[in-house]
Amino acid sequence: MTNPAPTFVKGLAGVVAAQTALSSVDGTKGILTYRGLNIHDLAGNVEYEEAAYLLLFGSMPTTTQLAKFKKDLAANRKLPKGILDLIKSTPKKAVPMDTLRTAISALAFYEKEVDDISVEATRRKGIRLVAQFPSVVAAIHRARKGKAVVSPKANMGHAENFFYMLHGVKPNTLETDSMNLYLVLLADHSLNASTFTARVASSTNADLHAAVTAALGALKGNLHGGAAEATMNTLLKIGALDKVDGYVDNAFATKQKIMGIGHRIYKSGDPRAKHLLEQARKMEEAEGKKHNYVDMALGVESAVLRHRELYPNVDFFSAPLLYYLGIPTDLDTCVFAVSRIAGWTAHVVEQYIDDALIRPAAQYVGPTDQTFVSVAERK
Ligand SMILES: CC(C)(COP(=O)(O)OP(=O)(O)OC[C@H]1O[C@@H](n2cnc3c(N)ncnc32)[C@H](O)[C@@H]1OP(=O)(O)O)[C@@H](O)C(=O)NCCC(=O)NCCS
Repeated sequence: MTNPAPTFVKGLAGVVAAQTALSSVDGTKGILTYRGLNIHDLAGNVEYEEAAYLLLFGSMPTTTQLAKFKKDLAANRKLPKGILDLIKSTPKKAVPMDTLRTAISALAFYEKEVDDISVEATRRKGIRLVAQFPSVVAAIHRARKGKAVVSPKANMGHAENFFYMLHGVKPNTLETDSMNLYLVLLADHSLNASTFTARVASSTNADLHAAVTAALGALKGNLHGGAAEATMNTLLKIGALDKVDGYVDNAFATKQKIMGIGHRIYKSGDPRAKHLLEQARKMEEAEGKKHNYVDMALGVESAVLRHRELYPNVDFFSAPLLYYLGIPTDLDTCVFAVSRIAGWTAHVVEQYIDDALIRPAAQYVGPTDQTFVSVAERK
């Protein structure tokens, strides 16, 4: 008996392509967990370092484990001179995600365990990358503005340090909390496109830096990580609250997608959105309501729902939150990567343990039975 031909599923929608013990996503009920812990319990209650440790090592760190983890991060934040020179020599107009992808790939030159794909070495390299990502993104931000790169401070936490290296000033508590919340919420999300890419690359026994470089390529697009930048650009383009309805109506009439809206898995709302909305609101109020991007975003949400049942995803309210954190829109996707490096590394570790090449089949739909004609006789 022959097996029936496998069915083609466009975009692999609904296809279960991996098993993971990292994060679970219930799209119907709108539930996200990291290793069984509900994101609502983690949001606002943990530091990014704790979430990253949870993903990398499987359980929440004890006080001692957390202190050691923070010490390891602090020891690895400084970038090799070659990477700083590379970032500084990049054209000022380069797209930050292109510079980030190139710099992370180049970090492999300086990684002493680059080819060791054992679980232990991959975790060690992952910790180094978690530490290095904010330093790289901050250096990109400053170098292209012609500003001096700011060195990390050993006595600052991950979120605080990142803000400090970006802006050269110590953040206040609200800014630190906002950055931390963002980083916690985006640290992992099941088999999203960039994580799948990282798993595909590592399934060939390629090393962590190769897998993460591939993941960065997938994160860049506006259907995935690029959506926050696209959302903020939309809000800036709309410009005023009374223009929101007209913009959304026109987008539906002309079949344009509204960025930051809709999700492959969540069909009743993204649980991360409410935390980002609340934090963006706090930031907006703290700056004295100079802008009203949160109200505009809420206006877009309501206007979309008048057309069809589509809800904001994680990138939607990230957009104003990152804006209020002083992040230029074209750096948003890089900031996403600063968080997701923990999830990518943990998935690569899972993939090495799983030890199976990811190589799906394709359905051939091209011409058949063609007659070969030599080059001299071709017309
Ligand atoms: C995320 C996304 C790619 C999910 O796509 P998907 O799972 O393939 O969803 P579908 O394309 O099946 O969407 C179902 C319907 O809603 C529409 N839709 C989905 N997202 C939409 C959006 N943002 N704006 C307008 N319409 C949208 C689709 O066009 C489709 O319409 P149809 O039934 O008439 O063909 C999609 O919602 C999207 O492009 N969103 C904007 C980009 C974004 O925010 N990405 C970040 C995701 S975290």
